Amino acid sequence: MSHADDHAGTGEGTRRDFLYYATAGAGAVATGAAVWPLVNQMNPSADTRALASIMVDVSTVEVGTQLTVKWRGKPVFIRRRSPEEIDASRNTALTDLVDANSENANKPDTDASDANRTLDEAGEWLVMMGVCTHLGCVPLGDGAGEFGGWFCPCHGSHYDTAGRIRKGPAPRNLPVPVAAFEGETTIKLG
Ligand code: FES
Repeated sequence: MSHADDHAGTGEGTRRDFLYYATAGAGAVATGAAVWPLVNQMNPSADTRALASIMVDVSTVEVGTQLTVKWRGKPVFIRRRSPEEIDASRNTALTDLVDANSENANKPDTDASDANRTLDEAGEWLVMMGVCTHLGCVPLGDGAGEFGGWFCPCHGSHYDTAGRIRKGPAPRNLPVPVAAFEGETTIKLG
């Protein structure tokens, strides 16, 4: 049994193409799998796959860009935030947030401050499920939306640079899955 821990780069053009299709209808996650830069898991059974942790090489992710990998059948955004993105989030008052919970599986029951959302203390690395908390569409990234983070085109939810819901029908911040650095340039999901 083996699994690939590589990725195919940020693939922004490809991802945009996919996200364009994602706005066109349901079932986009399944149909988009072939064109995502994804982590290809070769585990033999669905049971094994559902439990699997994966390693993601982030050594080629530039500041201000993100990588999307597929994990447990869903997209995961791994963003290396720019100083401006970090500042924008850290300068946001908690009272301005819709969802006051960090929604971070690594830090349960903590508030949604920027520091409680990121993987590292410097706040450069943000790992989140790429699934809108409204009805499950894949939000657009790369500074999309009114808060410079992500925008879900399905019904107009705006997420900020920490993936926190700021406007629109989505009720919760984009969830942060169990994740940790394993070495300097590898992130383990799960
Ligand atoms: S699914 Fe994202 S706004 Fe409705």
